[in-house]
Amino acid sequence: MKTLSATALAHPNIAFIKYWGNRDSALRLPVNGSISMNLEGLFTRTTVSFQPSLGLDELIINGHEVMGKGLTRVSAILELVRQAAGMESKAEVVSDNNFPTGAGIASSAAAFAALALAATRAAGLEWSESQISRLARLGSGSASRSVPSGFVEWKMGTGDDDSIAVSITPPDHWALADCVAVVASGPKSTGSTEGHALAPTSPLQAARVADAPRRLDVCRKAILARDFEALSAMIELDSDLMHAVMMTSHPALFYWQPATLTVTQAVREWRKGGLEVAYTIDAGANVHVICQQAAAGQVTELLAALPGVLSVLTATVGGPARLI
Ligand code: PMV
Repeated sequence: MKTLSATALAHPNIAFIKYWGNRDSALRLPVNGSISMNLEGLFTRTTVSFQPSLGLDELIINGHEVMGKGLTRVSAILELVRQAAGMESKAEVVSDNNFPTGAGIASSAAAFAALALAATRAAGLEWSESQISRLARLGSGSASRSVPSGFVEWKMGTGDDDSIAVSITPPDHWALADCVAVVASGPKSTGSTEGHALAPTSPLQAARVADAPRRLDVCRKAILARDFEALSAMIELDSDLMHAVMMTSHPALFYWQPATLTVTQAVREWRKGGLEVAYTIDAGANVHVICQQAAAGQVTELLAALPGVLSVLTATVGGPARLI
């Protein structure tokens, strides 16, 4: 009996317009669309091998065997692939990240994008980008956005089949960079799956969601027009809205550390001084500072000199999930 194997690589992404809250948590159907940028230079590489001799699926991340919840989430995706391909073999999944875990870069996005592509291909399925994006979404919502290239929009859709991500424009459209100011390196207290479930408990969530189509529209147009001023206003507003929802959920989620505010205040000051910079924060304390690629060196130096900043990671605009 033969082993069926494939290897895929995918980048993490940083959301400009955030996904926070599901209308169907089992299917990870979001309450609003979202927009992100793939992060070149950072990646997850995943090999999936279906092996008839295995009794159970196996997951190895960065050299360590993972069991429990992590394995269950991966097995659920493998099960969908087995059903679609009409096969029964269990699989070994070996995954490595080239970026530090706990650096505030969501590893689940790159992980499930690479898994969806490698698993379907290993099973002999030749799925379209949209079908792979949908499958990645079922593992982690933001993973749907790590499948297409460059600047990407995840459409909330009407259901399971059309809640997928598509590329707005390829990476070479706009030379932006993400300088991640790492201010905390420990694992976060509340993961995003639990966080999404708390979103509807905030009285602010309805207002955030109602205004999302407008923010998506402004952000998409700002990307297409390479309009940094419009982009920076929208991504900071969107990030602040999501954190306001988090802080007013029940129980409340406070992801920020004092250094988070130090960085966001510095970013506003630098912008007043003429530097094109904007901040956005995911479900953690670290601050993603978006700037023009030409200014990334200067921004990295400025960030590294701020009190409380432990390190700075820099990424440019990344391509799609791909087979290697
Ligand atoms: O895909 P998840 O369930 O890890 O959720 C991602 C949530 C945020 O990173 C906070 C926002 C986003 O759109 O990426």
